[in-house]
Amino acid sequence: MQAIYLDYNASTPIDPAVAAAMRPFLVEHYGNPSSGHWAATRAKAALETARGQVAALLGCHDDEVVFTSGGSEANNLALKGAFFALRDKGDHIITTRIEHPAIIEPCRFLERLGARVTYLPVDGTGRLDPDDLRKAITPRTVLVSIMHANNEVGTIEPIAECARVARERGALLHTDAAQSIGKIATRVDELGVDLLSIAGHKVYAPKGVGTLFVRRGVSIEPLIHGAGHEGGRRAGTESALLAVALGKACELARDLSAMDRVRALSDRFWQGLQRQFGGAVVLNGHPKHRLPNTLNVSFVGRVGGEILARLDGVAASTGSACHSGRIELSPVLQAMGIAPNAGMGAIRFSLGRSTTRDEIDAALERLSNVLAVAG
Ligand SMILES: Cc1ncc(COP(=O)(O)O)c(C=O)c1O
Repeated sequence: MQAIYLDYNASTPIDPAVAAAMRPFLVEHYGNPSSGHWAATRAKAALETARGQVAALLGCHDDEVVFTSGGSEANNLALKGAFFALRDKGDHIITTRIEHPAIIEPCRFLERLGARVTYLPVDGTGRLDPDDLRKAITPRTVLVSIMHANNEVGTIEPIAECARVARERGALLHTDAAQSIGKIATRVDELGVDLLSIAGHKVYAPKGVGTLFVRRGVSIEPLIHGAGHEGGRRAGTESALLAVALGKACELARDLSAMDRVRALSDRFWQGLQRQFGGAVVLNGHPKHRLPNTLNVSFVGRVGGEILARLDGVAASTGSACHSGRIELSPVLQAMGIAPNAGMGAIRFSLGRSTTRDEIDAALERLSNVLAVAG
């Protein structure tokens, strides 16, 4: 049976062009980019070229790109780094209830250190109302962190509007763009953000590399102190191997044209589901402001995990977990107010550059078989 991968929001395969760009750094160019001799030259040049490629995708200056180990580290650096740097100015952080744990958990940690954190609600489609931010922000607010697009349901948040609110009130705006990069435009000036996180393995680069964009003039306290790598913002000898990979992936991600095809496939999938299951299947997420590749649907009255377990060869994710015999909805679905008998049947299908029409049609057929058997 053909294996079908529909979990690109969890991770993407390494693009062949990215793997080719990495190869010389696996076998030849081993120098430390900070050394002053011949062995460093190639590594240093490659590191800076990669920084430029990331900057070109984000529309920022090269020196605003800080390489990290991935999205989680970038988010931690943004939240803790800004909080520690701005402690004298205020102690209030605003975020949302639908963030990834790589935002929620650093917030919980900072609460233990005395931060006050407001978790803004979202509507039934997973979208935040900028007026709620306007009301929550105070003179003590130092940082607002709102994800660009949600990893589970794909809803795109009104970042530019939120950034205007934050800027008017003197707070920094961070966005977690781990899921939006390479899927929709992520230029920092259009979004108006001060800090932005990306994760390599969501954009056809390997795991273990990411970036935090830090706008010029914004100071953050490093998490890792040491020698002055990355402009003093993240110590540790840079990996030219991983930076080159992310750089190449970002160069490829500038061309968003593949997303038109992905959106068409995702629409085909949704239409097929509606044809087969009618009102027994509902869409989770915003009908319009949604990532082109993300289709989160609920099979009402069913259990997502049980469907997936029988859906041979199809890799996708469920939005609910079973804890001691009880089905628990994910915090995102809970924040959206999804009813338990719909939420427990939630499955996230996320498509990618190499998804084909045949795969979508085969997944539909397998779903139809599984649900017919399940009665
Ligand atoms: C929205 C979002 N932020 C952050 C992360 C964490 O990124 P990483 O796996 O690179 O640490 C993920 C990964 O699932 C994500 O979806």
